[in-house]
Amino acid sequence: MKEGGGLVYAVGVVIPLLLTCALLTQLHAANPENDQIILQVTDNYHAIHHLLGTAAELRFKTFMEEYGKEYPTRAEYLHRLGVFAKNLIRAVEHQAMDPTAVHGVTQFSDLSQEEFEGMYMGVKGGGAGENGVAAAAEMEVGDLPESFDWRERGAVTDVKMQGTCGSCWAFSTTGAIEGANFIATGKLLNLSEQQLVDCDHACDVKERKACDDGCSGGLMTNAYKYVIEAGGIEEEDSYPYTGKRGQCRFRDEKVAVKVANFTTIPINETQIAAYLVRHGPLAVGLNAVFMQTYIGGVSCPLICGKKWLNHGVLLVGYGSRGYSILRFGYKPYWIIKNSWGKRWGEQGYYRLCKGHGMCGMNTMVSAVMTKT
Ligand SMILES: *[C@@H]1O[C@H](CO)[C@@H](O)[C@H](O)[C@H]1NC(C)=O
Ligand SMILES: *[C@@H]1O[C@H](CO)[C@@H](O)[C@H](O)[C@H]1NC(C)=O
Ligand SMILES: *[C@@H]1O[C@H](CO)[C@@H](O)[C@H](O)[C@H]1NC(C)=O
Repeated sequence: MKEGGGLVYAVGVVIPLLLTCALLTQLHAANPENDQIILQVTDNYHAIHHLLGTAAELRFKTFMEEYGKEYPTRAEYLHRLGVFAKNLIRAVEHQAMDPTAVHGVTQFSDLSQEEFEGMYMGVKGGGAGENGVAAAAEMEVGDLPESFDWRERGAVTDVKMQGTCGSCWAFSTTGAIEGANFIATGKLLNLSEQQLVDCDHACDVKERKACDDGCSGGLMTNAYKYVIEAGGIEEEDSYPYTGKRGQCRFRDEKVAVKVANFTTIPINETQIAAYLVRHGPLAVGLNAVFMQTYIGGVSCPLICGKKWLNHGVLLVGYGSRGYSILRFGYKPYWIIKNSWGKRWGEQGYYRLCKGHGMCGMNTMVSAVMTKT
């Protein structure tokens, strides 16, 4: 990516076709990779037996209790124990790579990286900033506050839970519309992700195969287009979340918020901050690889691929002084709302360091305007 003079837009950046939410938890989905994993584990049968009675198994049992995990068979228990032990090592590796955050056991510690990342679909190029919309114009950045948080201003709904459905893109979309609607009307509403999961099949203008696909991934810019064309989005209460793709049950008369337009934001974190403050919470795509083991702190990995965007989230604020015990210093950070429930991360939130295009967070940012 070239960062030259003036504004750099997300054009021609290589991104995956769809955001698959880094959360493929259908363990036995028809996928040859899973068979591969199971084979490897079978090969490792003796290695896993060596784990029995160790500290790793003790931690596994604590983990099962804490997150209410149950495995139907002894074989599955052993398999998950093996995966868990590997994830203990991965957490240590992530800790070494990302010393300003804390990494450890999370509710995803019994999923292999492959299961978690769900990166099987669509990893071809596409223009992140291109979706038939002009990118936003440069915004004045002179008087931006040192820190800012839309949660304190009432523009952000409670952290939600996508469950075992690759619908992060729908949560990122509703978050952006909820914020824009709050700023326009003063009313905070929970909007329906399920409507998007069931009804939205909108495709990218350039990458015609990148179409929103329920629990298998999607893009926020496609979803705005869908909401514009459908005539609006319902509230959560009238179209509740099930976490499974079903028949479209959208009803015109239940529309709570209409969308007028949307725009993509330049690849420049100063500009992103200006849009966040002046416009509202922004939908963001990023590479979620460090999020599987994230417990808290400001995540600032030494290496985090910027082209492998696989997760859709919501940017709600930033801070200038995130204290890092390990680096004995302060770091500016972004505040990111996730959709993995409140037990994940910092009460459902992720802090990512600001100013480095970390994990590609600056390449797929969008704002939405509601219609009143
Ligand atoms: C939507 O936004 C684009 C620029 O981002 C602008 O050119 C266009 O006129 C807007 N359309 C409407 C209907 O407001
Ligand atoms: C959104 O839904 C959650 C969970 O049902 C609820 O606790 C919260 O009060 C709702 N927020 C608004 C603004 O309606
Ligand atoms: C980002 O935007 C700011 C403010 O508009 C500008 O001063 C800065 O030069 C831009 N950075 C890059 C790398 O283009």
